[in-house]
Amino acid sequence: MSLTRVPGMLFGGDYNPEQWPEEVWEQDVRLMAEAGVNVVTVAVFSWSRLESAPGVFDFGWLDRVLDLLHAHGIAVDLATATATPPPWLVREHPEMQPVDAGGTRLGFGSRQGYCPSSPVFRAGTVRLARAMAERYGEHPALVMWHVGNEYGDHTVECFCEESARDFRRWLADRHGSLEGLNTAWGTSCWGQHYTEWTQVEPPRKAPGPVNPAQVLDWRRFSSDALLACFEAERRVLKDVTPDVPVTTNFMSILHHLDYWTWAAAEDVVSDDAYPDPADPASHVKAALSYDLMRSLKRQPWLLLESAPGAVSWREVNVPKEPGLMRLHSLQAVAHGSDGVMFFQWRQAAYGPEKFHSAMLPHGGTDTRQWRETLELGADVRRLAEVAGATTSADVALVLDWDSWWGLEAPESLPSNRLALHALLLSWYRPLHARGIAVDLAPPGRDLSSYKVVVVPNLYLCTAEQAANLASFPGRLVVGPFSGVVDAADQVHEGGAPGPLRELLGVRVEEFWPIPDGLTQQVVTPDGTRLTARTWSEWLTVDDAQVVARYRGGPLDGRAAVTRRGHATYLGCLPDDLTPLLDEVLAGAGVTGVTGTDLPAGVEACRRGAYLFLLNHGAAPATVTLPAAGTDLLTGRPLHGHVVLAPRDAVVLKPEEIS
Ligand code: GAL
Repeated sequence: MSLTRVPGMLFGGDYNPEQWPEEVWEQDVRLMAEAGVNVVTVAVFSWSRLESAPGVFDFGWLDRVLDLLHAHGIAVDLATATATPPPWLVREHPEMQPVDAGGTRLGFGSRQGYCPSSPVFRAGTVRLARAMAERYGEHPALVMWHVGNEYGDHTVECFCEESARDFRRWLADRHGSLEGLNTAWGTSCWGQHYTEWTQVEPPRKAPGPVNPAQVLDWRRFSSDALLACFEAERRVLKDVTPDVPVTTNFMSILHHLDYWTWAAAEDVVSDDAYPDPADPASHVKAALSYDLMRSLKRQPWLLLESAPGAVSWREVNVPKEPGLMRLHSLQAVAHGSDGVMFFQWRQAAYGPEKFHSAMLPHGGTDTRQWRETLELGADVRRLAEVAGATTSADVALVLDWDSWWGLEAPESLPSNRLALHALLLSWYRPLHARGIAVDLAPPGRDLSSYKVVVVPNLYLCTAEQAANLASFPGRLVVGPFSGVVDAADQVHEGGAPGPLRELLGVRVEEFWPIPDGLTQQVVTPDGTRLTARTWSEWLTVDDAQVVARYRGGPLDGRAAVTRRGHATYLGCLPDDLTPLLDEVLAGAGVTGVTGTDLPAGVEACRRGAYLFLLNHGAAPATVTLPAAGTDLLTGRPLHGHVVLAPRDAVVLKPEEIS
């Protein structure tokens, strides 16, 4: 099943024709056709050009753009154009501009200048979305709706009075009554007992640490408030054009939005990915986020934005060396994307993004960038048959946003050094290096298809989640500081690991975070020494075997890693998780997709029957092939082994399916 009506892989980018005179459009579509572009995203920031006063629409220019694109065989991912409210609306309703935690109302002149709870904003977006759907619902170029843009990019939350009212409604719904709220928020602490709903506020800037349960509910609310904006538009689109898929572009692994909930509300998962070319390990972080995208709906997804070269929003914006755009693009396809799309088609001449790279740069067609765009277009076409192919993984990493928000609450934890993204990466990195396919999963999902489930951290863990983990028949690995609090951020009776205690057979008596610069040694019975730098725990073993013990320091001789049945618990966080992980993987019979060790820097992914091998390293690498076949990218036969130049890749189609 393809994501849209466009056959094969999608190839294209954001197209902003309103920034150019119409005579340029003709050249654009001609060059798009030359590059093999088959889809573009249009009208993302066009509200002010489409509606000049309430209900006064000017669709003429967009009609011409869509007709022109269609005439050249280019499909459209059409934005509802609601990502930036127009100046007239903001002028008429200054109260819709977002307010920060310190009480400052933000000004106009950028984008996403809206309070997510503003009824004026929501009504405006719904009106425009309906007008767009009625106007273009039958347009033959339309293949997907693109709602808003990168929700949570600039505007994550708003602390205005309207948001406060919306927050109270949300809280009443969650907690039932003010008493329920007082209990859940533990307002007996620091004298915060509420007697009227109007006393309840967003967690604004306060003299000291703010109630963490209040902050946790605020995070949940803020994700839901933005989701309500998306859903309001989606309802209108589904009403008018029920068969057109709806997406909104995600931002890889984003702290602020619970993408499990969000993905359930959209038809197609799409992602914007901007790995930093200056970071030699950026491809590992990208791989992790692509695996999340694939796991969100357990189906292929779409790389809707990426940078052909440099971005314009880092401190230093490094371009991509020759071949890197191709390698990064193929990587997304390897991890399940059914296309390669960019920000943006033509490099802007003005505005904050005029130095952001584009498929067609300022220098025009006699440029390295343009030549690489043409070559990539040809490569993407060669991968058409991969579209729709799925990945099956033996290993899952558990990720939960509630727990993430709780874990990273400021000023109330034993240590601020446990950051979830880094924890996920510390497990993902060795799995990735071994070419092992990894899914991400929420803690409540059916996990029975996996052989190994790793829970890097589940600070907040409910009884239901614990029961789900306990019923998992494979090998389970649970990282430290898990099972600490319940859904209201209240410590489980008896302490950590709370509802996981019986499963793991241990109790955490005390947390022993490690101060910066110090280390704690951990030793396994075979003498393997591991070093922990951020975290350790005083464990009491009730009913488990000790896998490793602390050596030296205040916890000398105590259990550091334990195992009960198939469930391993780490009370510490070793720098190198490889020895522990390898043992678990071997016990579960999990191997990498090539069946042999991979040279450093080489990434291996299987998608359907196709094997992607990508060399992210700086040196040529030789990889032993598990089967003979053909390289889809070059058409050459492959068998035995293949030598990959730096930044080169092959996509092996094994003989048996050729
Ligand atoms: C994304 C955004 C695009 C563009 C791009 C530049 O965050 O959706 O509109 O700004 O970044 O990298």
